[in-house]
Amino acid sequence: MRFNIAIDGPAGAGKSTIARIVAEKLNMTYIDTGAMYRAFTLKTVMNNIKSAHQIIETIKNTSIEMKNNKVFLDGNDVTDKIRDRQISQNVSKIAQIPEVRFFLVEIQKKMAEKKGVVMDGRDIGTIVLPDAEYKFFLTAEIKERARRRFKELKSKGQIVDVRQIEKEIRERDLQDSQREHSPLSAAQDAIIIDTTYKSIPEVANEIISHVRRGG
Ligand code: DC
Repeated sequence: MRFNIAIDGPAGAGKSTIARIVAEKLNMTYIDTGAMYRAFTLKTVMNNIKSAHQIIETIKNTSIEMKNNKVFLDGNDVTDKIRDRQISQNVSKIAQIPEVRFFLVEIQKKMAEKKGVVMDGRDIGTIVLPDAEYKFFLTAEIKERARRRFKELKSKGQIVDVRQIEKEIRERDLQDSQREHSPLSAAQDAIIIDTTYKSIPEVANEIISHVRRGG
């Protein structure tokens, strides 16, 4: 596969589910960059690391690897742990720190060097892979995004209030789109897809059709 696909968008827009399907159908490698920010956030939470200085020192001694759709933090599989609400509540703050971003963006660029990746995140089309052959930006109305997250957490047995989830997503959107370094924004050449009233297979097929048509 001689091309890369960048998929960006806010929390709950359906990026990871759709990116995974697209990668599978096109026989490409899926890379969830949010999982990398989450894995590092988990390390700061577990070790009670709070100051910016300590965080910056810690990232230099951290290994984050993505293998077979799993995330490894310093060699340990943390794929499930990074989905905890506590991590969702803390990750935006950590993702604002430029040194953390530089460190992870370098790894992400390397993973895409040989092409053939579908990468999702907030700054893939703008910063990580500005030359990606295909770029998509997924959005959805906030109420729908909150509903999706609510369903996902409920299916995992977590008891949550949908209004609280909506509030948290709103806060995360604000932090992700207003931060100074690589804020969430659509690349100028990205195709914008509103997923509010579309099913997952519909959106995945829309992306695949675009790619098969060659843009
Ligand atoms: O996609 P997600 O919800 O798992 O992402 C978790 C957080 O990581 C999100 O709030 C913003 C941050 N993030 C980022 O800043 N840049 C990326 N490329 C991916 C995620």
